[in-house]
Amino acid sequence: MVESRPGAQEWVPDGAGIAALRDAVGSCRGCELWRNATQAVFGDGKANARILLVGEQPGDREDREGEPFVGPAGRVLDEALDAAGIDRDDVYVTNAVKHFRFEERGKRRIHRRPDVGHVVACAPWLEAETAAVDPDCIVCLGATAARAVLGRPVTVGQERGRPLSTGERTVVVTIHPSAVLRMRERAAREDALAGLVADLVVAARVRR
Ligand code: URA
Ligand code: SF4
Repeated sequence: MVESRPGAQEWVPDGAGIAALRDAVGSCRGCELWRNATQAVFGDGKANARILLVGEQPGDREDREGEPFVGPAGRVLDEALDAAGIDRDDVYVTNAVKHFRFEERGKRRIHRRPDVGHVVACAPWLEAETAAVDPDCIVCLGATAARAVLGRPVTVGQERGRPLSTGERTVVVTIHPSAVLRMRERAAREDALAGLVADLVVAARVRR
């Protein structure tokens, strides 16, 4: 059955700041993902950050703790930010989709990629966060984030690591930190991390 998805718009308070948006997101019924998740995971970080980082959706740990990027991918992100000379306290970190999508396999909850329909339904939250933070640069961590921010399909390998414009905002696309974790060989992992760091350095140089 195809679920109908009204989208998040009617739950997003107009012109709200980050704190009011975070208070409101738990009530969102813009798509069906709220049903199985523990809680909504809103963005976190500096309210007027120059860099806004967008991931895909909360993972298992984030769903339980209610904070973005606190699990294994978050550790990679911290390491990459540090290597790029960016303080995590100076950025704002969020996700394209605010509720965890997963499949249960026995006791495990296996991450499932959100569909474009979930990304589109959840976009009003990301738009409201972006308006409130008003960053100089938006960093898209992976293809789902890039789809959400640029509003079109993006091949990360082709568009990563250089400033792109949405007309209104400057955007830098890079890989998702979990892509680093998926590399089996140590050398491949190091290369992937170095690429992520290099793209973050590009983002840190963007000034409006
Ligand atoms: N992966 C994401 O995309 N976001 C998180 O918050 C955690 C893992
Ligand atoms: Fe609302 Fe986004 Fe959660 Fe769907 S995933 S219910 S649109 S906050």
